[in-house]
Amino acid sequence: MRRVDSKTKYIGLLGYPLGHSISPIMQNAAFENKNMNNLYIPIEVRKEDLGQVVRAMPKMNFRGFNVTIPHKIEVMSYLDEIDDLAKSIGAVNTVLIKDGRLKGYNTDGIGFLRSLGYELKLSVDGKNIFILGSGGAARAISMTLAMNMANRLYICNRTYEKAESLVKDINSKYGNVAVAIPLVEEKMEEAIKDAEILINTTSVGTYPDVDDIPINKALLHSKLAVCDVVYNPRKTKLLQEAEKLGCKTMSGLGMLIYQGEEAFEIWTGVKAPVETMFEAAEAFFN
Ligand code: ATR
Repeated sequence: MRRVDSKTKYIGLLGYPLGHSISPIMQNAAFENKNMNNLYIPIEVRKEDLGQVVRAMPKMNFRGFNVTIPHKIEVMSYLDEIDDLAKSIGAVNTVLIKDGRLKGYNTDGIGFLRSLGYELKLSVDGKNIFILGSGGAARAISMTLAMNMANRLYICNRTYEKAESLVKDINSKYGNVAVAIPLVEEKMEEAIKDAEILINTTSVGTYPDVDDIPINKALLHSKLAVCDVVYNPRKTKLLQEAEKLGCKTMSGLGMLIYQGEEAFEIWTGVKAPVETMFEAAEAFFN
């Protein structure tokens, strides 16, 4: 049984409601593997209590925490410092507590980027990338890709105004990298033809019995690497269709694990045991 004593350092997970999160299993497996006296604990916090809880954490033995729905934006107002990428994303999912100060980061896009590098051996430098969706996941991924020198980001969303607004935010920060694409097949086809990577950041695909593929499969081509942020099921209809064409494919599981890897490294300053985290995640889903 693991040791918990007065020296134990805690890492929290703040959200509401929390449900079955993979993070406690993955992070505690990593701490155990590294023989660190740290414990990752989920804490359900209601919106009206967030400020009080966050301000109390440095006074207890907390080394940091993750933040999830619905607090990723709101939490920013209670922090002392926010890293540049998190600032441009406009949301924080990881907080480091050091010398009583709270610094916010966003590791979601970095998780995606690492997954692309580790699993598909792809860098985004100079690449044209087609992104479906304009919500929180799209923001984190697209800002990270722009920061890492993607050449062109085509952003396509059901609600066009949200794509336009995201494009404006990206371009004001990183130059004219992004273009909004209307949900019109001709326009989408043109952009997808010019792209080497396609990423679905919407939740479409999570419920295979009712969900369809998020774009017409006729728009896919064999030179695309096709990525989905959906991780359950591992093989969405989008990835199945892409595989049939011979595309490289990547599920959202890597993004989930590697955002945790980056967070572990922010809290501890130690290289994360990523294989252990992967094994814990696989066990969680199987
Ligand atoms: P997340 O934080 O997971 O990105 P979100 O911020 O709620 O979640 O964003 C969800 C994204 O998926 C949005 O781009 C949304 O499109 P709208 O902006 O038009 O709402 C997209 N989305 C969700 N369900 C969809 C569906 N059935 N068809 C197309 N797009 C969908």
